[in-house]
Amino acid sequence: MGSGGPPEQLVGALVAGPSLVSSVEWHERIDSTSRRAREAAEAGAAPGLLVLADEQTAGRGRRGRSWAAPPGTGLLLSLMLREPAGPNPGVLPLAVGVALAEAAAAHVGDAQVALKWPNDLLAARPGATWAKAAGVLVEAVGDAVVVGAGVNVDWRATERPPEAEQAVSLAEVAGRDVDRWRLLAAFCGVLTNRLADRRERPEKLLAAYCDRCATLGQAVAAELPGDRRLTGRAVSVADDGALVVDDGHARHLVHAADVVHVRPAGP
Ligand code: BTN
Repeated sequence: MGSGGPPEQLVGALVAGPSLVSSVEWHERIDSTSRRAREAAEAGAAPGLLVLADEQTAGRGRRGRSWAAPPGTGLLLSLMLREPAGPNPGVLPLAVGVALAEAAAAHVGDAQVALKWPNDLLAARPGATWAKAAGVLVEAVGDAVVVGAGVNVDWRATERPPEAEQAVSLAEVAGRDVDRWRLLAAFCGVLTNRLADRRERPEKLLAAYCDRCATLGQAVAAELPGDRRLTGRAVSVADDGALVVDDGHARHLVHAADVVHVRPAGP
């Protein structure tokens, strides 16, 4: 796989095993793993292509933002799937968040990770407030979907990018090394199961999501499309994945928004 890439044994196990991965591409440097996975989807590639990189020069975030991570310090991945959207496509990004949180929890401790709606991975040392440790970008490409994730694995010896000054890495929270390839293996395994839950047992998936979601019960501010702002308390997650926000007068369904926790909290 080339220097710094995933061990051959891991790649063999991912491709041969029951996970969704059918092939793996490793890039020491690429513009964006999600751009590359989209390109493959458009060219008719078989589902299950996993694109990994050590460094991205034009990493993409949600809502048109960029995603910056120092080279060699994270897990940067995009997995191309041909996953039916189903009646509630908004639940798929939640399933990815649950898989990421469960994989991270196995490495840093269950109580040290949570999700901010819809799928930012939060992590914190005991006594500290939550900070972002990973972001997820799920994009539809025709009948395919590209699941992109950027995880801050170890930023202990690295200057953080200016746009990620508040972010945290899993190794900082764990207080020891975290192996990004073991994290990847765990994520692929859990994602396979959580996507099956989405199709066959959506109530089980939503319950697991709500258990991990630090947004629930919080005072939140949601930046809605069209420069609108909603403030209130996040009370639940609807069957279609929307965040339910009570503003004191009515309950509102938030489908696409940046949500801020008004009073930062921790585990
Ligand atoms: C967010 O805004 O929180 C989502 C960030 C997603 C970043 C990942 S890094 C790997 C993949 N390739 C990209 O260009 N973006 C995603």
